Amino acid sequence: MRTSTHSPSGTGKPHAAAAAPDAIELLTSDHANVKALFEQYQGLSERAHATKKKLATEICLELTRHTTAEEEIFYPAVRACARDNEDLVDEAVVEHASAKQLIAQILAMEPGDALYDAKIKVLSDQIEHHVEEEENEMFPKARKSALDFVALGEAIEARKAEVGLPLEI
Ligand SMILES: [Fe+2]
Ligand SMILES: [Fe+2]
Repeated sequence: MRTSTHSPSGTGKPHAAAAAPDAIELLTSDHANVKALFEQYQGLSERAHATKKKLATEICLELTRHTTAEEEIFYPAVRACARDNEDLVDEAVVEHASAKQLIAQILAMEPGDALYDAKIKVLSDQIEHHVEEEENEMFPKARKSALDFVALGEAIEARKAEVGLPLEI
């Protein structure tokens, strides 16, 4: 737990960034982080195989941590708080399953293999679409509920820290 109560600027007011992020802030910042990693990948030269491998592995790990925490902690909470969230959450789970298939394929391949870059690009496009739905539909709906987003955020952070890369199939 962070105990700092003062902003670095010395205003004496509690500094917002010192508070633990709530679940939606945490998930949204994960989205931005992965988007930046995909952009970095797209900017690499064709032959930068070592960097491609490193970035692709990081993307797969971050997405695995994020989707696991969403499926085990955030989605069940959203599902439970309103009946009409069912379809939204179901769709998100199916989109995760599709991403997991691509992640498993990417992890079993090497940069330079046929379709490697294409699989990264398709994963990036799919995640971009998925993130738009979460941020524009699911999160605003969830925000209106009485969920304890701070407790959910803590649980998500703890779960993410435990998750590693899926075993290669
Ligand atoms: Fe997400
Ligand atoms: Fe998701």
